[in-house]
Amino acid sequence: MKIAFFDAKEYDRPAFERVGREKGIEFRFFETRLTADTVSLAAGCEGVCVFVNDSVDAAVIDSLYSLGVRAIALRCAGYNNVDLGHAFGKIHVFHVPAYSPYAVAEHAMALLLTSIRRIHKAYIRTKDFNFSLNGLTGFDLHGKTVGIVGTGRIGRVFADICRGFGMTVIAYDKFPAADSGIEYVSTDELFSRSDIISLHCPLTAETHHLIGYDTLDKLKTGVVIINTSRGALIDAEALLDGIKRRKIGAACLDVYEEESDVFFHDFSGHIMSDDVLARLISMPNVIVTSHQAFLTEEALENIAETTAENLVGFFNGEAPSNELCYRCGRVETCKKERRERCF
Ligand code: NAI
Repeated sequence: MKIAFFDAKEYDRPAFERVGREKGIEFRFFETRLTADTVSLAAGCEGVCVFVNDSVDAAVIDSLYSLGVRAIALRCAGYNNVDLGHAFGKIHVFHVPAYSPYAVAEHAMALLLTSIRRIHKAYIRTKDFNFSLNGLTGFDLHGKTVGIVGTGRIGRVFADICRGFGMTVIAYDKFPAADSGIEYVSTDELFSRSDIISLHCPLTAETHHLIGYDTLDKLKTGVVIINTSRGALIDAEALLDGIKRRKIGAACLDVYEEESDVFFHDFSGHIMSDDVLARLISMPNVIVTSHQAFLTEEALENIAETTAENLVGFFNGEAPSNELCYRCGRVETCKKERRERCF
């Protein structure tokens, strides 16, 4: 089995090369992202393996199909970069629904602690033998209210971590979990009560710009916003406006709306053309990591293992449980009901 592996990074290879050897898959690693311009690299391959910033739109899907590609294996959970409706009936799409919710939830807490205890500033100061404490005053998390949007796998782990800090947890989820013991509230109540807001829901038409100009006035002054889910959950220009107006106290961002042209690449020494990102990064109360929340050894091993199982299962004629399709409109639950391939 030959699989074209796009947007390959140094850290991807060890785990994928290992599962490739074990399961008889030849991964062909390409550093370039999958786009209409690079799709021809998949010639001779039965499948492609893609990540969050590969562009799997209608044109790319048509080209893949004409090259003989029959499987798209996402090595991530989110699939907003794939036109599933267009793929339906042509190419089967798989994802890795869970690989380490702990990796992402722990990163969210790492960002929060770094931000509110000014660790990023203290680190730079002490490197320069500057031991002054001026400007480093933080605040206790104990007793604060955290509002979690999306209480799935990652959101629930984050809720547990926050409880460990003695925080009050409230949440909004379109599909609240009955057994979770979490206090569910409306988004407006969450916005007005939360000292900290952490986003853990998928990016959909409904959640696009969940935090935007309309939301700013509903937020508590000084709120800390954490986004480790998808960039477009936040209107970045509105966020900047909220920071400049002192409405938003701090932002911790592992994702950014326009990240696909920037993240995962080294632009040091270059002029940053994205003014909004450059301005956000220049703010003393904004921390940006470049879609790094998933990046733990455990997560990389699990991602490679599940991706390989998805591909082997599919090409052996099975109906892998991680297939995504739009036939019934319930992307992640339909195959569990039907126990068969999506088409
Ligand atoms: P999940 O599917 O387990 O949970 C998502 C939750 O969001 C579910 O409880 C669902 O009911 C809820 N939800 C769906 N629509 C909603 C809406 N309109 N409003 C509010 N809640 C809604 O997903 P998981 O594994 O917890 O991942 C969450 C997100 O984290 C993913 O969608 C992905 O975008 C992101 N992610 C980011 C990573 C990173 O490295 N930064 C790595 C992995 C995931």
